[in-house]
Order: sequence, then structure tokens, then C-alpha cells
Amino acid sequence: MSADSTPGHGPLAAHYAAQATRAPASMDAFWMPFTANRQFKASPRLLASAEGMYYKTVDGREVLDGTAGLWCCNAGHARPRIIEAVRQQIGTLDFAPNFSMSSPLPFVLAERLAELAPGNLNHVFYANSGSEAVDSALKMAIAYHRARGEGQRVRLIGREKGYHGVGFGGISLGGLPNNRKWFGTGLPGVDHMRHTLDIGRNSFSRGLPEYGIELAEDLERLVTLHDASTIAAVIVEPISGSAGVVLPPDGYLKRIRELCTRHGILLIFDEVITGFGRIGNAFAAQRFDVLPDMIIAAKGITNGCVPMGAVLASDDVYDAFTHGPDHAIDLFHGYTYSGHPLACAAALATLDTYAEEHLFDKAIELGDYWQEGIHSLKGLPNVIDIRNYGLIGAIELASRPGAPGTRAYDAFTHAFHEGNLLIRVTGDVIALSPPLILQKQHIDRIFQVLADTLRATA
Ligand SMILES: Cc1ncc(COP(=O)(O)O)c(C=O)c1O
Repeated sequence: MSADSTPGHGPLAAHYAAQATRAPASMDAFWMPFTANRQFKASPRLLASAEGMYYKTVDGREVLDGTAGLWCCNAGHARPRIIEAVRQQIGTLDFAPNFSMSSPLPFVLAERLAELAPGNLNHVFYANSGSEAVDSALKMAIAYHRARGEGQRVRLIGREKGYHGVGFGGISLGGLPNNRKWFGTGLPGVDHMRHTLDIGRNSFSRGLPEYGIELAEDLERLVTLHDASTIAAVIVEPISGSAGVVLPPDGYLKRIRELCTRHGILLIFDEVITGFGRIGNAFAAQRFDVLPDMIIAAKGITNGCVPMGAVLASDDVYDAFTHGPDHAIDLFHGYTYSGHPLACAAALATLDTYAEEHLFDKAIELGDYWQEGIHSLKGLPNVIDIRNYGLIGAIELASRPGAPGTRAYDAFTHAFHEGNLLIRVTGDVIALSPPLILQKQHIDRIFQVLADTLRATA
């Protein structure tokens, strides 16, 4: 191999590196997701590179990452093990089918994930995103009951303010009006419990809110309405992120588990943002000591660097599908890229990095400092609530009359351009989810910039 063809060197590498780090000549063709395209393209924010806790923009500014990308890069950016594993894998086996064929890594990774998962969640089904994993879990739930002779259990229960991605299953079970109203009526046979955000009773809670366990009884109400015999599964995020960080009241998730068990309903935890150390432990299920029948994972599974989603299913769920003749396919479901070798390599190196650096402990170790930092913003202009758990935080702002969302959006652009800090906003909530490698000085900086921002954009 000549020096020029060594990965990462030579004219080809230079060509691709230049292309990826300069502002593009035209921005017309890329229809950006969840973005006001015309507004963005008139005033773009382009990231060129990333390392550790920081992004670098195409114009050379260093921006502190307060959101782990999009709740994905829990180990921070440009982590050596992950780079090495992906580089090695792409040059060895770029793709292998997983329909009646496979390669070693999906199996190795599944064992690792099953070890990390709580209880008997010993079986891993791969997807390529949170949305696909959500649809996979919902389909499995319905098929599970059918496989056990309860084919009438087809109803699915979600929750208001829930976010489960953007597939038809996810938007139907989710409870964010803008994500639903444009796209028809969604899946039939779906109902929703009430959400648990109650600023009136729980404002400025530190950790889990005290009030609201009774909201779990909403499930009993829906069981009474529809009859348990028609309900396949309940899906909830242990902590929802996209609705602006909604925390479960103390005891709420345990009560939901009890009701599901009593009525033979599967409980699915969508842990796309709570998985992989975000609140301590591998999964929120462990932190909250509640064992669901399935966990949906994505984002932090590969530290965000290669798309991957997964459903972690219990022995009971898996076993229901594996009673047929040996030659029969157990689940008529799967994606071309389920268990993609590159994603598996990235995930294995990601899990190694988490373990080596004890990153799942960070949310516990730094949780109090983080909590003090975020609550120091109480009293600043327009702050009507602050919520935190693990290394998650939310600052809710009073909306401008007639212009909801604009106040937080102004804070977002101000923090990015003036404070060199990346935050995320949904509606008028500022949501924070930094990489777990952050240190106290980063926490200080995040809340200093935010304090300045909230004053400047009042
Ligand atoms: C809880 C939850 N579920 C599902 C998804 C969808 O994941 P993806 O965007 O990878 O499809 C998200 C994404 O933010 C999420 O937060």
C-alpha cells in the first residue's frame, strides 16, 4: 500500500476532508428534517468537525456540545476506539445480509447488549433508527399475542406528549400534535394516557416530581374502556425528551408495570434517549427498578456515529415466536441493514468506551453538581420551570403571546452564535443532554452562557 492510499492520508482523503469541512456551494437540494428550511438556509449553522466535548464550525469556531449531538454522542466526539473499530470494519466486511445469512458481529453485540440489559431481556432485534425500532417493537407486541392464541389483542396504548419517532407507528402512539396532524389519522386501535407534566404542582422540582403518581391510573381507565383482552402493549418513554423533558412522578412507572402485569399487557420502554448512561445505569429501567418486556434503544448505542436501533426483548416475548417447525421463519419483519457490520463494530467499540471510562456512573457522580447548576437559573427572565434528572436538564420559558417557540429559538441562536454553546429547543423548552464525559468546568460554562443568553434575549 503506498503512503497515499493509507486510510486517512493522500489526495483522496484530502479531497473528501475538504468537501466535508467547507460551506457547500448550494444548499437548495437538501430538504432538511424538522427544520424551517428557508430560515436555516438564509442563516446556516454548519458543523465541520468534532472532538471530545466540542464541535468546530465551518468558520472555525469551537462550540461546546450541550446536547451530545442529538442525545446520541454520550461518549463525546471522535473517540479513538470507535474510529478504529469502524475503520477496521469497513475495510474488512462492508456489508453482509442478515436474512438467513449473517456475520459474527451482530451475535457478539447482541450478547453484550443482553448482558447490559436488565432481567430477562436477552434477545436483540436490530433496526437502523429509533423510529424503526419503535415500529419493530409495536409489531412484535401484536404478533406476540397472536402467536400465543390471543390474536384479538391488537390495541396499543401510548401517552400524550410522547415521542416515538416518525414512522406511522411512532406518530400514532406518540402524542405531539404537530407530528400527527399533518399525516392523516394514524394507526387504528390506538389510545393515549395523559402526560405527566404538571408545572402547577411540580415546578422547579429537583429530580423526580413529587406529584402525579395517580396519573398511572389512566391506564386502568383505558383498560376499563377497551377491555384488557383487546390491548397488546403500552409504550412509554421513562423520561420523554422531545416533548421538552417530561419526568415520571415518583412511583409512576412502577404502577404502570403493575397494571400491565395484572392485565396481561406488554410494557415497552422507549429508551432511545435514556439508554446508555444518560441517567446512570445502562438503562432507565435499572435506575427506576422497573422491568419492561421490551426496551427500545438507538442513538447512544453507537455513540451516534453509525445509525442503529434495537429492540431488546424478554425471553417470554422471544420464546412465543420460536415454537413453530424448525424451517419456519419466526418473525416476518426485518430491514436490509438490520445488524449492519459497521454499526455493530461501532456499537461494540462504543460499549467498550463506556465501560473503560465508567461513563454510566457519570450521571450519578455529576448529578448533584448539574442539578445545582441548572437550578441557579431560577429567577432569570421568563423562566417558569426547571427540570432535571441524571445528566438531563430542561428550562421552560414563558411563551411570547401569539408566538410560541420564538423565545426559546432566539435563545438557541444566541447561545450558538454569541456563547459558542449548542443547546436544543422544543417549543419554549431548552433541553440539555451533554456528553457524559463532561467535567465540572463544562457544566459551569453551560449555565454561565445560558444565564447570559436568557438575560440577552429576555
Ligand atoms: C424516545 C424516542 N424514541 C424514538 C426516537 C426516534 O429515533 P430516530 O430519530 O433515530 O428515528 C427518538 C428520537 O429522538 C426518541 O427520543
